[in-house]
Amino acid sequence: MNGTIGAEIRGVDLSTTLDDATWHEIQLAFHDYLVIYFPDQPITHAQHIAFSRRFGELMRLPQLHSVEGFDEIQIIRRDADDTGRVVGENWHADSTYYECPPSAVIMRSVTVPEFGGDTGFLNMYAAYESLSPKLRSVLDGLSAVHSATRIFGSAYHAQNHKFSDTGVKSDLKIELGDREMVHPLICTHPGSGRRFLYLNQVYVQRIEGMTEAESKPLLRFLYDHCSRFELTCRVRWVKDQVLVWDNRSAMHKAIPDYAGRARFMTRTTIAGPKPQ
Ligand code: SIN
Repeated sequence: MNGTIGAEIRGVDLSTTLDDATWHEIQLAFHDYLVIYFPDQPITHAQHIAFSRRFGELMRLPQLHSVEGFDEIQIIRRDADDTGRVVGENWHADSTYYECPPSAVIMRSVTVPEFGGDTGFLNMYAAYESLSPKLRSVLDGLSAVHSATRIFGSAYHAQNHKFSDTGVKSDLKIELGDREMVHPLICTHPGSGRRFLYLNQVYVQRIEGMTEAESKPLLRFLYDHCSRFELTCRVRWVKDQVLVWDNRSAMHKAIPDYAGRARFMTRTTIAGPKPQ
């Protein structure tokens, strides 16, 4: 899509079982571009699951509703009259508060607004590689504390702008939201062998061993650095587009610019190993 991240793939029919050579090419493209999307794929839920299983074992995120009869197909939904918080509106990777966060997400657009509702992505390999060697060596010894407190833990309940019940489940356990998990700030991708920055402003609370106030300037610098325009791409959704993002070396952001219009996406989530 641009010089840093993202590729459109044509000439593949995701409703069929892909032969090994095609699958191998898709995997290579996935590791090279981090975000790959296939236009014009009106697949069924069962076909969505079958394609997703090529990437690994499926898992579910506790906050998202599932399609009836297909637990592994979860929903990103925003109705035209929804005034609640938009799911995923800040740069993040999904569920990094898990010991073993997801490795990838496969999302299909079912209903898209006539305009707006794009998803932004950014390349965390490029973010790492464009830091000075000195700062990289400092970060190499550091880890970050992740938790979902701002998504469904006590920090979420302490503020006013909530998700609507149709968007996100409202019966989630606060203790699960507040549970903390430590991951290194620099990780190596098990698929590509490349190093990437591993942090995000939704789940990271502080640098391990530092106070929030001490962590803040460094985290702020890194968030600004990662989200520079040249490290990002922006995917425009059209109906029946299937997109796969690498949930480790890429961050994503739902762009909240479609108030008054409906958007409905289905997604599967691929389990991953502990980041290291
Ligand atoms: C998400 O963050 O999982 C949702 C992304 C989107 O709706 O574009």
